[in-house]
Amino acid sequence: MHKGFTLWFTGMSGAGKSTISEIVFERLRQAGAKVELLDGDIVRTHLSKGLGFSKEDRDTNVRRIGFVSELLTRNGVIALVAAISPYRSVREEVRANIGAFVEVYVHCPIEVLAERDVKGLYKKALAGEIASFTGVSDPYEPPANPEVTIDSSTEKIEESVEKVWRKLTEMGYIGL
Ligand code: ADX
Repeated sequence: MHKGFTLWFTGMSGAGKSTISEIVFERLRQAGAKVELLDGDIVRTHLSKGLGFSKEDRDTNVRRIGFVSELLTRNGVIALVAAISPYRSVREEVRANIGAFVEVYVHCPIEVLAERDVKGLYKKALAGEIASFTGVSDPYEPPANPEVTIDSSTEKIEESVEKVWRKLTEMGYIGL
């Protein structure tokens, strides 16, 4: 058995939010939990289709994801979110609305992100071909007090997953 809660992964593009959240998602699902994963990249193909990357559009995107997470959470479902969600104040707003909110900051130094560049976006952003790219030409505000901090440049993926899992157990959200 588990309570409804929201597990929110924030961090720059390519830091590992999707990868880590997908593993946690699978692990929860296999343990029989009711769980949904809202990934920014996917949300932007339907729920937030048409939104861009201005501060206003990002805030709208994050508020929409927060709204869905709130509905899921209050119905006993575990909502996992993987979205850059770069602005602290909107994350705090979502946290306040949801209550049962666990924030995971997925950090990775910009040099490593640019080196990995899985989607080829950093190269373009650094060349000035993408305007307002998070961490390059647009802000990223790290959480002041995240429940979990991950550094994907120094930790193995499994260690990061374990850290998240341990925190959820400690906080009494899962008893698996
Ligand atoms: S958020 O800022 O609104 O939370 P979200 O997580 O939904 O962002 O989407 C981020 C994804 O959009 C990135 O992983 C990347 O693939 C893509 N993207 C396209 N343009 C940008 C940009 N200017 N800044 C950041 N990500 C971008």
